[in-house]
Amino acid sequence: MLTVEHVPQSVLPWWKTTTVYQIYPRSFSDSNGDGIGDLPGILHKLDYLHALGVETIWISPFFESPQADFGYDIRDHFSIAGEYGSLDDCRRLIDAVHARGMKIVFDMVLNHTSDQHPWFLESRSSRENPKRDWYLWRDGKKPPNNWRSFLGGSGWHHDPATDQWYWASFLPFQPDLNYRNPAVKRAMLDVVRHWLGEGVDGLRLDLFNALFKDEAFTDNPFSFRPIPSEENPDGFFQRNQHTINHPDTIAFARELRAVVDEFSHPPRFLVGEVFGPSSVLQQYCGPAGEGLNLVFLFKAMRSQFSAPAFRALIHEFESSFPDPLFPTWVFGNHDRPRWMERLGNHVGKAKLLATLQLTARGVPFIYYGDEIGMQHHELPTKDALDPVARRFHWVPQWMARRLRGWGILLNRDECRPPMQWHAGPNAGFSAAGAIPWLPVHPSVSEVNVAAQQGQPHSLLSVYQRLLALRKLSPALRGGSLDLISDRELPKHVLGYRRTQEGQGGEQATVFLNFSEREVSVALGDPLGHTLHSNLHPTPQARGARYTLAAHEGIILLGRPR
Ligand code: BGC
Repeated sequence: MLTVEHVPQSVLPWWKTTTVYQIYPRSFSDSNGDGIGDLPGILHKLDYLHALGVETIWISPFFESPQADFGYDIRDHFSIAGEYGSLDDCRRLIDAVHARGMKIVFDMVLNHTSDQHPWFLESRSSRENPKRDWYLWRDGKKPPNNWRSFLGGSGWHHDPATDQWYWASFLPFQPDLNYRNPAVKRAMLDVVRHWLGEGVDGLRLDLFNALFKDEAFTDNPFSFRPIPSEENPDGFFQRNQHTINHPDTIAFARELRAVVDEFSHPPRFLVGEVFGPSSVLQQYCGPAGEGLNLVFLFKAMRSQFSAPAFRALIHEFESSFPDPLFPTWVFGNHDRPRWMERLGNHVGKAKLLATLQLTARGVPFIYYGDEIGMQHHELPTKDALDPVARRFHWVPQWMARRLRGWGILLNRDECRPPMQWHAGPNAGFSAAGAIPWLPVHPSVSEVNVAAQQGQPHSLLSVYQRLLALRKLSPALRGGSLDLISDRELPKHVLGYRRTQEGQGGEQATVFLNFSEREVSVALGDPLGHTLHSNLHPTPQARGARYTLAAHEGIILLGRPR
């Protein structure tokens, strides 16, 4: 077996070569039997994550909060919600992650606070309160302009006590902060500095592209688009020109990056939740990479399962995020249908897309449970806990299902069920006898960590092998990417080469078979190379050719002669 050296630390920053695993803390591991996952629970599972081979964990918010949006409504940015643990637990977790050579990313909700945050309580108490201008307040007998929230209706909410309207980009109990007020900016940058000072390695920025709105509160123009998408946030019949992707938000990305760069030992990073076409998303990173380090590219979640569709997507990511920019590969998160649903719960297809996710150029974001193929959990909207679902409780189940097919998830409880650790009581998420905050998915008897661990052909083992390979391969971690022309490949096969910079750099050639049929591919000169497959721990080439089984992906690793 060929040995490959690690990329020298000085060449690529760690955040470009890392792999990220998203934990929804409420659903990952419950250490005290209250049915709610917590920080000590995550701590107990760190060895699992380390053995899986992920290098960075991102945890959705666990700060003090009324939990009306399960943590995305923060009441105190400096303390931990009791149900998740204590500040000591948090510090212990940061240290334990670092002790394993891993990194930890927190979720930063800069755009809004809870309406129970002391700042908002003060702000709403009177028009003269010094914190009045910390949020967006306007006069009017009716909503001050036509702006719509992310969820469709007007984002303006009337406050009878002071007879003014406040703006909320998301739900009414999440009032937006006023970033045009320097005191607000300072206060939120202090929050950022505080957690970076505690040793947090990166921040995921919630709804980042809504931060600044038009100063004059100009109406948004009309649009024919009924429903927004990841690529085009216009919708509900308006162009969100004055509310989303405002030039001042893009400029603020650089200001924030400068703050993050104050912490350079080790360097930290920012990843933004932003929506728009790639041409707009790349602006958040800045032409020379001086803005957000990364942005989520949600388009992959909606791609068709086919070689041409992923070829086109890779081409788009490569042209919009050329070096020094870097793409991301995202197939799911806590707001979207589980990607297994899009794949018809087909484990073979999941193995293929995992191969793509972990070998294409970019930072992969793996949503908890995807490594074992956790399935989407359709639940009756009428019983939903998710505040978005409660708002849309009148939508019939068949329609919710149809919307899901278009990537729109009304009931986000469905993608947040307890992690399936084993087939025993409560899937091992909570102690036997406890009542998990959401029901465990019925597939737990087959889909669980214990059943897949040590099974060479399980999805979990595929992830483990690919993550281990990626760790050792400079080409896969940070190499450039060249698509192999489809004229040189059989139909339904996607191929690309990753090349480590510099003379004699390592090269990885990847072939992915999107079809149900066997196809043979030419390997070129396989001598001196090692062959890896998502299906077989020890794949065998026949001379210079290889026959790919249905949904097989292979990686040929070595140095060009
Ligand atoms: C988060 C959601 C959250 C919303 C409001 C997002 O986009 O990912 O889970 O409900 O922002 O904070």
